[in-house]
Amino acid sequence: MKSRVSIVDYSNSHRPAIRRILEHIGWAEQYITASEHNADVFSQNSDIYGVYIAIHNDIAIAFIYVQFHIWNQLAQIQGLAVDPTYQRQGIASALVDKAEAFARLKKARGIYVDTPVLNAKGRSFYEAAGYQFAYIMPRYYEDTLDGVTYQKFF
Ligand SMILES: CC(C)(COP(=O)(O)OP(=O)(O)OC[C@H]1O[C@@H](n2cnc3c(N)ncnc32)[C@H](O)[C@@H]1OP(=O)(O)O)[C@@H](O)C(=O)NCCC(=O)NCCS
Repeated sequence: MKSRVSIVDYSNSHRPAIRRILEHIGWAEQYITASEHNADVFSQNSDIYGVYIAIHNDIAIAFIYVQFHIWNQLAQIQGLAVDPTYQRQGIASALVDKAEAFARLKKARGIYVDTPVLNAKGRSFYEAAGYQFAYIMPRYYEDTLDGVTYQKFF
């Protein structure tokens, strides 16, 4: 599958795909709206942000956002999602490779990501991708939903 997927820079024509992918996954509306907003904002500043889309047969099926923080020279994955139809086919791995390449280009010391503690798929994915558990942030997503941070230093 990976060989038939191309990864391109985000453009406005991909915007509807952000919602479609996240609705297929079943995310709550507040997270979908925020992801659309982030795509709008992040894609305007390619010095600091990388916004990448995976395309299969002309359809956008996954995305990743990465931000480079100048102050501490760390990159942060700000969003990653793969349409459920296309999961477990190496697409998130390819997107994270792209995000890490962006981070290295910026000479980042490493890269980190937050995800809900209950996101078993996401946690397994980051662990498989070589990310180390860093810490739990209480009440990060909601009062009843903690966040967990993973990191990889280059
Ligand atoms: C997490 C997510 C991005 C993974 O995408 P993906 O394209 O399926 O991931 P990959 O195919 O590249 O997986 C690479 C490896 O990660 C691990 N992995 C991925 N999904 C997994 C799952 N559901 N259960 C256990 N391990 C998993 C496996 O080791 C996998 O290798 P394998 O398939 O050879 O066993 C996807 O499930 C998703 O979009 N989830 C909803 C949104 C989300 O949680 N985003 C990330 C945190 S914000």
